[in-house]
Order: sequence, then C-alpha cells, then structure tokens
Amino acid sequence: MKTIIKNGHIFTESEDYQADILIQDEKIVCIGQNLCVEDARVIDAGGCYILPGAVDVHTHMDLDVGISRAVDDFYDGTVAAACGGTTSIVDHMAFGPAGVPLHHQFEVYKKLAEGKAVVDYGFHGTAQHVNEEILNELETMAEDGIPSVKVYLTYGFKLNDADVFRILRKMKEIGGVTAFHCENHDVVEFLKQDFRSRGKTAPIYHARSRPNLAEAEAVDRVLNIARMAEDAPVYIVHLSCKESLEVVRDARRHGQKNIFVETCPQYLVLTEECYHREDALKYIMSPPLRTAQDCEALWEGLADGSIQVVATDHCPFHYGKEKQMGKDDFTACPNGAPGVEERLMLLYSEGVVKGKITMSQMVKALCTEPARIYGLCPKKGGIWPGADADLVFLDPKAGYVMTHEQMHSAVDYTAYEGMLIQGEIRQVLLRGNVIAKDNQFLGEKGSGRFIRRSTL
Ligand code: URP
Ligand code: ZN
Ligand code: ZN
Repeated sequence: MKTIIKNGHIFTESEDYQADILIQDEKIVCIGQNLCVEDARVIDAGGCYILPGAVDVHTHMDLDVGISRAVDDFYDGTVAAACGGTTSIVDHMAFGPAGVPLHHQFEVYKKLAEGKAVVDYGFHGTAQHVNEEILNELETMAEDGIPSVKVYLTYGFKLNDADVFRILRKMKEIGGVTAFHCENHDVVEFLKQDFRSRGKTAPIYHARSRPNLAEAEAVDRVLNIARMAEDAPVYIVHLSCKESLEVVRDARRHGQKNIFVETCPQYLVLTEECYHREDALKYIMSPPLRTAQDCEALWEGLADGSIQVVATDHCPFHYGKEKQMGKDDFTACPNGAPGVEERLMLLYSEGVVKGKITMSQMVKALCTEPARIYGLCPKKGGIWPGADADLVFLDPKAGYVMTHEQMHSAVDYTAYEGMLIQGEIRQVLLRGNVIAKDNQFLGEKGSGRFIRRSTL
C-alpha cells in the first residue's frame, strides 16, 4: 500500500520546507517535490504543519502505587496519547514485590500492554535493589530491547549512593541510559512529618515539603556520582526548578558529558498557586509545581539547549476518587497528574506561539531528542527516508479551549481546564495509518507494537 501526503509544510529539528511524503509498507520512502506515484492513495495535509509523531519517554500507564493504581491502562492512555499527537511512548515500569529480578516487571508489563496499546511502546527497567544478578540483568534487558533503567532517590525503593554508582558503571559499559528521579529523600520525609505534626496538612505543604534545593541537591549528587563513573550517561527526569538547571549547567561547564535533562509541560506552564485552589489535589505530584520564575528558567533552558526533552510523567488519578484520599492530609494523596494528551498542543501554543521556543526546538524536544537518547532512532523521532511513517498534521490557524470533555484519558479532569490553545491537531498517522482525525480516535485496540530499542 502506497500513500502520498501532499500540501503540508514539514518541520524537523533543523529545518522546515514544503514537500510531499511517499509512504510504503508503513515507512517513509521518499520526500520530494510534486511526487506522483500510480496507485498511491493521496492524503491532503491541507496546509497543515507536518511534524514527526511525538515520542513521550515518561509515562506511567496502569501504574500500581500500592495505595491505588493510575487510572489509564495501556488502552485509554495510548488513545489519549494518539489523539494528542504522540505515536510512541516509553513507560516507566512500576516497582514489583521486594527482591524481584528486572525481568519480572517486564513480563508483567508485556501482559499489561499487549492487545491494548494503540501507539508503539517500550519500557524502562526499574532498579529497586542492586546485586550481581541485577547488574547482569541490565545487560540482558538491553538485549531484550530495554537499554534504560530508572533509579529513584526517594520513595520506598530508593537506592543508596554505592548502588547508584554500580548501576551507572554497568550502564555505561553496555551503552545504556540511567534515568533518575532526583529528590533528597531524608529532607523531604522530615519536612512532611514536621508539617503533619504541626497540623499543616493542606496541599500547599506538599510543595513546601519538597523545596527546590531538595531536588537540586539530588541532581548534584547524581551528576557527581556519574562523573566518578567516568561520565556515565545520566538522564534527569522531570527537572522542575532553576536551581537544578544551574547544577546541570555547572557540571557541563566543568566538562561533564552525557547529561540529558527532561522537563514536563506542568513545570513550564503551571505554578504552585494551584495548591491554593479549591481543587488543589489535582496538582499533587512530585516534584511539586514551582514558581513563575522557575517556569521562565525552564523555558530558557529549553531555548538554549540546556534541556533536551519535554515528556509528561503522565500518571493520572481521579480527582473525584483517589485524589480525595489527600483531602485532610496531603501526604495521603497519590502523586501524579495526567498530561499525555495535552503535551504537544501546550508546547506549541504556550511555547512556539508565544515566542519562547521555535518550531524546530519543539520538534527536537518532543520527538527527535527523546528518540535519539533512548534508542528509538532511526525508526522514530524524525521525518526521513526509512523512518516509520508516524506523522502529525497541526493546523496553526485553528484554536480551541482545552477542556476535560474533549480528552480521551479515563481520568476525570485535565490540569489545563479552560486554557486557550492556538493551533489544533488535524490528523495523526502511526506507521502510515490514520489513527486520529479531528480529535476522534480511528485506530484499533492492540495495534501498538513493542519497540526494541538500541543502546547509545
Ligand atoms: O508525582 C509523580 N511524579 N508521580 C509519578 C511517579 C514519579 O515520581 O515519576
Ligand atoms: Zn518521578
Ligand atoms: Zn514519573
């Protein structure tokens, strides 16, 4: 089956131009002027911008957090992703029972995603303890298409510095990437208990108990350990504040290589003012929302290349149900918020249209860099011959008000209710098939495929 896309304006991480795209057998085979192929179906892009399908390398579908479970499974969550222009996700697997090998969670997640996902997907391993078996398994996980592992410096299965070092050294040896959730666990736990003991249990104390420096200190620590592990690749997830960004810039100024930084839309466009709202529980996530100055610093970090990736940390809990566990005490509220569907349009409308970043910078942060860092390239992340024909048509002239009503996630809210959005997604193609059109999902349950990712 051959398809030609006509009348679109292509945007990549480095250029933009008018051209036709020829697709055959799910792949882009040719990009050129006035392409004409007999027996090809023609799709009219109608003057839209054509971007690579976006890649979200930080989601938590069906995440089991003990006290509850994220409400999007791999079907609802990836339908939301598809309608929002995301055609590949790399999901962070949950912790398993204490002591399990890395492959235990891989087997669990295969079952969670197979037959459900509607976009292509991969998984990050989750290191919850370290011994020789786990270190050897990092290698076999990479051979199985999972060349990345996540380490938490807080929460139940946080790792100590020696184990962080061992993981980093091994991941460097095999050409893999270690992702870190950076917060100083002991300080955060102390502050949480201190606020609770003084009856300060309102949502704003969630933010007060996780100060900027608790994040920046942990980022600094991890970067130093990575440096001792001979510049082992480090990927900082959901970096949220200016102090952390300064730590990263300092390390790079001192010559440290292989540092990758991710932020998320919520840290770019929302502030801790949300914790004073009546519906503040919607915004309980870790790290917490910060100040307008932090948002500005993050936009600048994106524009000057200090930040490589914008992912979502999509981890939804119903406001009307699970989030209410925190109504009398913020420490009892499950952490996380939805965002997989909103990401692309938020970045375009709040970033590109408002002149904070360019289209190319947006494509780089949403598509090409995440695909490159996590081994999805050259199949995913760009518009070039040989890539999967994953494409998004964005109509820059349209606009709408973002509301929960138009979303596809199973969750009962969007954190961006009422936000004016400039631009609108018209069509989304996954491997040449139209899976979303004018906010309607047209794909098939289970048509997403596991992506075997490669090492760096
Ligand atoms: O609050 C958050 N971010 N929940 C999801 C798990 C994580 O820390 O990434
Ligand atoms: Zn995290
Ligand atoms: Zn996360």
